[in-house]
Amino acid sequence: MSQPSHLVSSIIDHIQSTPGQRIPFASYMDLALYHPDHGYYTTKSSILGPSGDFITSPHLSHDFGELLAIQFADMWQSLGQPSPFHIVEMGAGQGLIAADVLGYLQQNHPDCYTALDYTIIEKSSALRAQQKQHLTHQKVIWTTLADLSPITGCFFSNELVDAFPVHIIEKHNNQLQEIYVTTQDNTLQETLGPLSTGKLTQYFDLVGIDLLTDTYPNGYRTEVNLAALDWLDTVATRIDRGFLLTIDYGHIAQRYYSPARHKGTLKCYHQHRHHDNPYTNIGQQDLTAHIDFTALQAQGEKAGLTTLGYTQQGLFLMALGLGDRVAHITQTIPPGPDGFNQLIQRRAALHQLMDMSPMGLGTFGVLVQEKGLENSVSLTGLTTPPMEQAINKFQK
Ligand SMILES: C[S@@+](CC[C@H](N)C(=O)[O-])C[C@H]1O[C@@H](n2cnc3c(N)ncnc32)[C@H](O)[C@@H]1O
Repeated sequence: MSQPSHLVSSIIDHIQSTPGQRIPFASYMDLALYHPDHGYYTTKSSILGPSGDFITSPHLSHDFGELLAIQFADMWQSLGQPSPFHIVEMGAGQGLIAADVLGYLQQNHPDCYTALDYTIIEKSSALRAQQKQHLTHQKVIWTTLADLSPITGCFFSNELVDAFPVHIIEKHNNQLQEIYVTTQDNTLQETLGPLSTGKLTQYFDLVGIDLLTDTYPNGYRTEVNLAALDWLDTVATRIDRGFLLTIDYGHIAQRYYSPARHKGTLKCYHQHRHHDNPYTNIGQQDLTAHIDFTALQAQGEKAGLTTLGYTQQGLFLMALGLGDRVAHITQTIPPGPDGFNQLIQRRAALHQLMDMSPMGLGTFGVLVQEKGLENSVSLTGLTTPPMEQAINKFQK
């Protein structure tokens, strides 16, 4: 039998020193991803990108960050051109979005760029080091959520909330139970127990879902992201006037907790493959669950955030000009011997960003909440893109 890794040994030690010798799955996921010395996000040098375990939208092309920059410039206008105008990015990965946003604003919206302060909040020291290497703009500073003063501007994230640890629950004998992780012969095992916190039942009240009705089968398994609610409460206190923009894969509660989705959404990513076993490759693979956008909206309302709009990434990017970019690139082949290949690659990337097939990036949710705005605003990304308008007209 091979020796357990440092991470597995310290998780086993932790479990064995915990009363009851078991920890909720959420605590296990937190250790596997963020253990301060051995966690996946803390230590692994290649997490994101072609040589890592998964890619995100900014890996496909600069267009994603540039289209976000257009949305930020629009937000700056609708806030009355404040200076400073803060963009806070939480969970910035390799810093690709930040580089694309800053580069685009500098070139195309110099007044907005002059007013801009760009702040990154990043938990992983390994990724923070990569960001500092990649981002040489003097505009960028790093801080923590606890140290961030309330901002005027936009607080945003791409694929952050899906990386928060989740509780796993199952329905048995008409009761909700929770999955805990325990040890047996120095290996990690799942065991069922009562709910570890009353916040889990409050969560379902918040999102208007009752898993104890007959429509949910015995053995129904799903996740609850309580960390997202705490995060939202804190973020709401860090916005004085402006927007919270959250992009991630997920559903509204009715779809998330659909009786048919009886195994939940937890996934593990390792070397660009996904599977369902969180107890293998521990510390070498990402663990992630879809997010519940209803919970973010409902908790946001309680925390003083008003929902401005909820849409899909494909529509959001189209409204910001993705369709025009697709049309434009086919007319201009980049110079050089590789120009045609570059054109083909970029066109494929643009199509991936708006791919509306079930696993496509275009189906990601985009939630915009606001706080402290005196007047109603209409953001470009939330308007109906021209092609949709044409389809709607045609269907009438
Ligand atoms: C899936 S990656 C997404 C990276 C990047 N946004 C992108 O689109 O490529 C999740 C990111 O969130 C960071 N993260 C997770 N939890 C965090 C927290 N509580 N505070 C700050 N960053 C966090 C991770 O370290 C990582 O940078």
